Amino acid sequence: MEKTIDESKQGERLILEPKVNNTRKLFIESYGCAMNFSDSEIVASILSEQGFNTTQSLEDADLVLVNTCSIRDKAEQTVRKRLEKYNAVKRINPKMKVGVLGCMAERLKTKFLEEEKIVDLVVGPDAYKDLPNLLAEVDEGRDAINVILSKEETYGDIAPVRLNTNGVTAFVSITRGCDNMCTFCVVPFTRGRERSRDPQSIIEEVNDLWNKGYKEITLLGQNVDSYLWYGGGLKKDFIKASDMQKATAVNFAQLLELCAKAQPKMRIRFSTSNPQDLTLDVIETMAKFDNICKHIHLPVQSGSNRILKEMNRLHTREEYFQLIDNIRRIIPNCAISQDLIAGFPTETEQDHQDTLSLMDYVKYNFGYMFTYSERPGTLAERKMEDDVPEETKKRRLAEIVQRQREHSEIRTKEYLNTVVEVLIERQSKKSDAQWSGRTSQNIVAVFPKEHYNVGDLVKVKVTDCTSATLIGEAIELSN
Ligand code: SAH
Ligand code: F3S
Repeated sequence: MEKTIDESKQGERLILEPKVNNTRKLFIESYGCAMNFSDSEIVASILSEQGFNTTQSLEDADLVLVNTCSIRDKAEQTVRKRLEKYNAVKRINPKMKVGVLGCMAERLKTKFLEEEKIVDLVVGPDAYKDLPNLLAEVDEGRDAINVILSKEETYGDIAPVRLNTNGVTAFVSITRGCDNMCTFCVVPFTRGRERSRDPQSIIEEVNDLWNKGYKEITLLGQNVDSYLWYGGGLKKDFIKASDMQKATAVNFAQLLELCAKAQPKMRIRFSTSNPQDLTLDVIETMAKFDNICKHIHLPVQSGSNRILKEMNRLHTREEYFQLIDNIRRIIPNCAISQDLIAGFPTETEQDHQDTLSLMDYVKYNFGYMFTYSERPGTLAERKMEDDVPEETKKRRLAEIVQRQREHSEIRTKEYLNTVVEVLIERQSKKSDAQWSGRTSQNIVAVFPKEHYNVGDLVKVKVTDCTSATLIGEAIELSN
């Protein structure tokens, strides 16, 4: 049950409510992290002002956009395959235009136009507001590109147009970019410097979502705990801020509290936390508010101090354990999940054992596990040899995945014969007689539909489980 973010949401498409006067058709699909899905909603919003309604049919599209991921080589290969498919469709419909958005656009820039003849438009993650101008160029028969990264852009002024299938859960982006420079990671190069979004626009979005019937939001950022609003601009420039700006600055713990109080019945999640930036304040704020979900996604990447250092993760294994202890003390029922990388350059068998023993200490509820994939331009690629053989990486990954499966099973079993609160999101994939939703701890639960509806918060008695899913029966409404 290796879960990867890329694969769980591959190619999901967005359908928006059509504007009656719009005549052009946009087919947009997204790969990679939640931020890409959120960005596609912003792009669709910008293009709905340009006469585009979304379509689910590639064959009908006037414009095809693919929001891409560069995090691992495999993610890029998936997009290349999709471009082949678009090419086949374009042979039948030569007027169709094709654009590449997101991290691959930023990484490959004009190379995309050279390497992939089908591509008419290349737009980086900070340049979506330029889409109307770029499309005008394309309409006149020229290729168009904007991959300029910004120090300011947060799209805080654009109301994402949503029509995700459940109408219950939504993403709200709070920071863009990342300043952490983990040596394996391409994100700082493709998404630029870290900047935070105005809290007022965040709260307005949360209120708006509640008024539209949404019941759960996930605050999104590459590194949410380093959120800091002091009037705009880069986080690193905060030192130059005025006394007034410093006194009124809003950090992540304060933002969480603002959101939790603005809509006391809205469930609030956040992702992702970097261990080096997760503060006690945030943990205490989570404990204080019932509507902040009790789950922390806390990627560790490796259990070896030497590898953590090579990765430029700015904490040790011991500090990580301390953080875990603090979380368990302050929020005893908190679920914790991980990201782990097997086979980072120079990783020895002992380093790998350190990862397994770290997992044994934490016993994560679930995790996303990967083999190391060398990314062009990163510090690891420039300074280190990708020297762990592919078979060794795969074997270590398999051992990590197996260990996680055992831990997940232990964790889900802890809920047997207890009552959990589940927000119903959709019909279960396995049975149309069952609902599927998640607990506060982000564990999936399925149970017979009875008279309940999507969007209901329901008390569920857990009668059985697999390593990833709770199985039960609804008792009564919780709200
Ligand atoms: N802070 C980010 C992390 C982005 S990448 C977030 O919000 O999710 C998600 C995960 O992909 C990382 O935690 C890491 O485990 C994995 N990853 C990143 N670069 C990788 C690489 N070069 N090879 C393998 N896995 C990688
Ligand atoms: Fe990547 Fe590390 Fe930032 S994993 S997104 S550089 S926190």
